[in-house]
Amino acid sequence: MTLSLRARLLLWLILPLAAFVVVTALLSYDSASSTATVVQDALLLSSARTIGEDIDWVEGRLNADVPPAALEIFESPYQDQVFYKIVSAGKQLLGGNPDLALPSQESAQPIFYDSTLDGHNVRVVAYTRQLYDSGKVEPVTVVVGKTQGSRRAMLEQLWRPHFLRECLMLALVAALVPLGLTVELRPLMKLKNDVTDREPMQIEPMRAEGLPWELRPIVDAINQCIAQLKVHTARQRQFIADAAHQLRTPLTLLDTQIQYATLCKHRDLEVAAALDGMRRSTQKMTDMTNQLLLLAQAEAAPSRAHTRVDLSAVVAAVLEELVLAAHRRGIDLGAEFADDVHVEGNANLLHALVANLIDNAIRYTQDGGHVTARCTRQDDGAVLQVVDNGPGIPAEARAHAFERFYRGATQVAGTGLGLSIVREIAQLHGGTVALGHGEDNKGLVVTVRMPAWRS
Ligand SMILES: Nc1ncnc2c1ncn2[C@@H]1O[C@H](COP(=O)(O)OP(=O)(O)OP(=O)(O)O)[C@@H](O)[C@H]1O
Ligand SMILES: [Mg+2]
Repeated sequence: MTLSLRARLLLWLILPLAAFVVVTALLSYDSASSTATVVQDALLLSSARTIGEDIDWVEGRLNADVPPAALEIFESPYQDQVFYKIVSAGKQLLGGNPDLALPSQESAQPIFYDSTLDGHNVRVVAYTRQLYDSGKVEPVTVVVGKTQGSRRAMLEQLWRPHFLRECLMLALVAALVPLGLTVELRPLMKLKNDVTDREPMQIEPMRAEGLPWELRPIVDAINQCIAQLKVHTARQRQFIADAAHQLRTPLTLLDTQIQYATLCKHRDLEVAAALDGMRRSTQKMTDMTNQLLLLAQAEAAPSRAHTRVDLSAVVAAVLEELVLAAHRRGIDLGAEFADDVHVEGNANLLHALVANLIDNAIRYTQDGGHVTARCTRQDDGAVLQVVDNGPGIPAEARAHAFERFYRGATQVAGTGLGLSIVREIAQLHGGTVALGHGEDNKGLVVTVRMPAWRS
């Protein structure tokens, strides 16, 4: 499973921080525990001393009166139980609870130790005091023990706020860091959108302004890639131009030579027939080469850097070129132009689009038919319609008509590339092509819609 960058960064921050919180919690627990022990031991010793103060010789015997203040010192809301025991040097009990354990060794210094009494854990101090009386010295040991309730409470009061503070800090980091990352990762998301929104052939470099410096190497790498693409595209375009020149010239020359040879009135009919066949083949090759190059040009054309093109003028120029072909077949070639039908585009490619459509209409319409080219404005669009009253294309075949090398059921010569070129060029200009039928379900109406030029 791959975690998102945000989750990884969060883990990198949270895990060490959580470890830090655990370690500091343990350390602060330890220190709070020592503090609570010191405070409690001081109280125990102070209580033992107070009891010790009130032990006296009375008529040659040791007498111990435990003052209430000595035990009141422990009063707290935690209901701790306090035990004491006073023993003389001969371990004789002078007062208190006989079950309270004595220290394992004797010492002139107070001894603190842990013990149990009636099933309770108790902290105990043993304090030995020397009592002097008419030359006699008797050490008396005062032992005071106390259950752990108030110590535990003090430990919690010392330790818990610290621990809670650190937990709160951890929670704040866990909440704020993803928020901060979301905000800070926005430039990355924007960069991603910029890259995905780019058109396939857009070759302008990407802008790095306003991006954090960590992202600049990525933009540089993308720009390097774009620069290579630019060189590659330029080379490809150059290749197409060269190929067009290299192929067209000899083919046209060959065609002219064959035409000339045919015109030379060969007596030999077979040679004339062979020459005629060769002429048709070269004509087909020329057409195919021209169409393939046009298709390659349309596919490789940059989608921007267009100029303002008068669509009506393009149609008029094409009609002028094809009027002879129409005339030969007795086809009535007409045109209807509205004012200001301008588009933003590549004039050569638009010329090829119109030429392919009118050529189709003339080629596939029966002798004496009608072909009309219309240029109109519709809302924000420029619309070109080529209408004929020929056989048309059956509705079920229309979707296939745009496929490369699709020829339909026709005996008329052609390469099957014209309509794919038309669609490619229309799309390059942000437009669409639709096929329909004319009046009485007859003929073909090709409608090309493109965004009109906006000044
Ligand atoms: N105006 C039309 N009337 C009837 N059929 C058409 C018309 N235009 C195209 N077609 C049909 O659609 C097919 C594809 O047309 P397209 O222009 O793509 O190729 P082509 O005309 O065969 O060859 P090319 O245009 O490359 O010389 C044609 O072969 C023809 O069957
Ligand atoms: Mg065609």
